[in-house]
Amino acid sequence: MSTHNVWTHKGTFLLAAVGSAVGLGNLWRFPYLTGENGGGAFILVYALTIFAVGIPILIAETMLGRASRRSPIMGMRFLARTHKTSRAWESIGWLGGASAFLILSFYSVIAGWAIHYTWQMFTGSLVGADAQTVSDGFDALLASPALLTLYHTLFIIASGLIVGLGIHKGIESSLRILMPALFLILLGVLAYGFVNGDFAAAASFLFTFNLAELSLEGWLQAMGQSFFTLSLGMGAIMAYGAYMSDQASLTRTAFAVAFVDTAVAMVAGLAIFSLVFGAGLDAGSGPGLMFISLPLAFAEMPFGALIGGVFFILVLGAAISSSISLIEPVAAFLVERFDLTRPQAVFGMVLASWALGLLTVSSFNIWAETGLFHDLFGRSAFDFIELLTNIFMPLGGMLIALFAGWALTHSEVMKEMRTSETWFQVWRFLVRFVAPAAVAFVFLRTLPQVHGYLIPAIGALVIVGAFAAGRTFLVEKSQEQ
Ligand code: TRP
Repeated sequence: MSTHNVWTHKGTFLLAAVGSAVGLGNLWRFPYLTGENGGGAFILVYALTIFAVGIPILIAETMLGRASRRSPIMGMRFLARTHKTSRAWESIGWLGGASAFLILSFYSVIAGWAIHYTWQMFTGSLVGADAQTVSDGFDALLASPALLTLYHTLFIIASGLIVGLGIHKGIESSLRILMPALFLILLGVLAYGFVNGDFAAAASFLFTFNLAELSLEGWLQAMGQSFFTLSLGMGAIMAYGAYMSDQASLTRTAFAVAFVDTAVAMVAGLAIFSLVFGAGLDAGSGPGLMFISLPLAFAEMPFGALIGGVFFILVLGAAISSSISLIEPVAAFLVERFDLTRPQAVFGMVLASWALGLLTVSSFNIWAETGLFHDLFGRSAFDFIELLTNIFMPLGGMLIALFAGWALTHSEVMKEMRTSETWFQVWRFLVRFVAPAAVAFVFLRTLPQVHGYLIPAIGALVIVGAFAAGRTFLVEKSQEQ
């Protein structure tokens, strides 16, 4: 039997899933990717993917968690066994575990930058600074492996401590304080941007749709971003779903998570671009958008140091409520599989991810333009890891959709969803056909751009997935007769 326990309240899963979803993806990555990809068109692809692909997969992933009541790897092993399908489906769990390591490793480094800027803001060291000073300051931060490592270490320790305390005392209690505070701060920042920035320019940049402006890589990034922002396709939601109350509605919860997450991204985008345009700065400055343009905007504005400091606290809080969801699936697996204590499991996971994070640290300084990764993969370790996760998450999501769509029986799904037959049919159509096709479509469109030898690797994974899906189908059919 599984040793899993359940969240304290019916609504805690929603809180935890929103905590996982809302993070650097909304506040840092979404605005800068939108800026780099020319605005509205990017948002269109992103939003379409969220609603046609993201929500159905969110339901599917939560369902697999709640139906198995186990951590993702053990859960998929269990479901594959009880459904007499190929063991290959366990790859969903392994892929997820791998993604969690990869994401946490760079997530923690970037969140570390926010520690630096919280400090800079509250000490007022950037008040009245000009563009050159602010951008030199960012460059100096990136140039220092020691500083980056220090912040990275602090952030990952804080995340590990929360998860180490357990799902009730650690995760639940911290989210209950963090999340309401974050929403208040976000509204405050929006109001500040509205008053002090160029709100009209921000709105027109975000909501003018011109698909022709979107590059091929932009499509992959938009799709990757919609998986990333919903924490989809890698077992984080499955792990949280394993603790979900039987009473909570899958469908309503999934819509609520997607809605809140998208709303936060839009509000953050509006606030950030209002400030950036208001200060006459460029939207396309890349990952530095939040760390150069925004501090510069704050440097020139009334109460900028104070509001800026509070803003970076928001970034940190949102990041930590997400990073804990990256640790949980792997930690829960280690506890279940190897009988480790929770602190031991968390320590193992966090230490490994911390070490991997040093590669991301090095991507901004010692190995910025050269080094191992450039020789092997033609890009920095940070870019490479990001690219990998952009591929793993949609792939994981696709496999989750296929398994939930083809392997789970009608009665099982109805037991979990408890909705009308019509909505069930719509959902099943989406996870059986639309979601896998959408993921495959974007992969095919972008394959020619991805560095040469990755193509066979992805091709092989897709074939394995299709094979496993086919087997499930056959097994299921033969059982019916
Ligand atoms: N969704 C988070 C964000 O937008 C990042 C994140 C947390 C995540 N857990 C995840 C992404 C699991 C993918 C999978 O910042």
